[in-house]
Amino acid sequence: MQVEANRRPIEELNVQALAVAVYKDEKPGQDFLKKVDELSGGLVRSAIEAEEFSGKEGETAYFHLVGNDKLKFRRLLLVGVGEEKEYSGPQVSQMAGTAVRTLRSKNVKSIGVVPRVSGKDEDTARRAVEGAYIALFDPDKYRTVEKEQKTIDRLVVAIDGGDQAALDRGVKAGAIVGESINFTRDLANEPGGYMTPTDMAERAREIANEFGLNIDVLDEARMEQEGMGSLLSVARGSEQPAKLIILKYTPPNFEGDGKELLAFVGKGVTFDSGGISLKPGENMELMKYDMTGAATVMGAMRAIAQLKPPIPILGVAPCTENLPSGKATKPGDVVKAMTGKTIEIINTDAEGRLILADAIAYAKKIGATKVIDMATLTGAVSIALGDVNTAVLGTDQQLIDEIIAAGREVGERFWQLPLDKEYSRQIKSDIADIKNVGGRKAGTITAAAFIKEFADGLAWAHLDIAGTAWGDEAKPYRSKGPTGIALRTLLQIVERAGAK
Ligand code: BES
Ligand code: MN
Ligand code: ZN
Repeated sequence: MQVEANRRPIEELNVQALAVAVYKDEKPGQDFLKKVDELSGGLVRSAIEAEEFSGKEGETAYFHLVGNDKLKFRRLLLVGVGEEKEYSGPQVSQMAGTAVRTLRSKNVKSIGVVPRVSGKDEDTARRAVEGAYIALFDPDKYRTVEKEQKTIDRLVVAIDGGDQAALDRGVKAGAIVGESINFTRDLANEPGGYMTPTDMAERAREIANEFGLNIDVLDEARMEQEGMGSLLSVARGSEQPAKLIILKYTPPNFEGDGKELLAFVGKGVTFDSGGISLKPGENMELMKYDMTGAATVMGAMRAIAQLKPPIPILGVAPCTENLPSGKATKPGDVVKAMTGKTIEIINTDAEGRLILADAIAYAKKIGATKVIDMATLTGAVSIALGDVNTAVLGTDQQLIDEIIAAGREVGERFWQLPLDKEYSRQIKSDIADIKNVGGRKAGTITAAAFIKEFADGLAWAHLDIAGTAWGDEAKPYRSKGPTGIALRTLLQIVERAGAK
């Protein structure tokens, strides 16, 4: 898809269809909408007056324009964006997404999108392009029939005003971020058989080479040397060797003192059967997405390498399968983590925390001072927060506040759960230092309390994305399947930190 921002009046755009944002209860009699109404020969007014379309978020109205020979575009889509005063970046993304998904289904090849935000032109261009890329992803990769074949060749974001260089920067950043989110979603969508830990490491090498990141991949022998008994205990049941992927971004001509280092750590269980504590068969196929945390870290690093913020970033992705076999770890086994802590494994299905324990300890060893980990960690988080909010917990309130605020700016919602020290009682073991499950109560919190044991001396926050990383239903602006949640928030945090 070719993408550009254009400042010319809309009637001069050389596209097949135009999509225009319309605020809730906006009247066609004034301002910009009046112009669109006139171009449409009164169709806009007619749709609004008939109460067919009111500008509610996600609502659309579609017209063929006939009899206006001056216009290049022959089709018009109105996209409702809700209240004007609440309309900003996140809604622009959804508006552009709804526009391209709707128009693609109507076989339109070139689209003009009019997001209608005044000021913030660069950001608007960026959010529109991001939204368009995200909208065009479909999870039907392995279909040979009834596959979504329609493509969009050209997208023009029409922004009246601003300077062209800023708009071009916005478009470029939007494409980088959109592609990186889809990279993450593609990984998350891959079946376990096609995306083993070795495949993950291969993909990491590809992005490192293509975009210029340092990469190191620890194999099991090196994990052994590092004493990563916790991570290795999960991999033991599998024929596929575990990999610990380390990606590092250093800004061009970096002259910082290198004392502060933000790390993203993501759970990469490429298939989670539960291990000896085998999961029920129903919906087990979904456990291919149990590596979404790792995929998100890789997608974020892929974007960061191109956006080139002024601060260094570390990305750490522990990758393994969790399978039962004669070699698999058994409930009751005790393992020793890299930090020296001993862990009684009560349930081999609580494997995510086991691999994060060693990955976070390793991130710290190689210089991380601040860690945000993300993981499809607990089913309990879906019970608590559904698919709307991602749980955030941690030891550094400032970091947590920053995540919540950054999320709000990009349209991703985070809700903090408490992590009082009392919860840690639930993970005390009779035989070892701690155990890997804390019982039925507060499952998302006790999982975080476990990880906290390995985040000593770090500013640390944890995101449980199990409820938000996979969409069971399609939205007007996005297919069902992997959502790419948290990636834009991570980038927002990096860009905020870089701007300080
Ligand atoms: N990967 C799962 C969590 C999960 C469940 C993610 C459903 C997405 C959808 C994780 O490894 C797991 O199995 N967690 C257990 C923990 C329990 C054994 C303490 C869970 O949530 O049931
Ligand atoms: Mn599990
Ligand atoms: Zn898991």
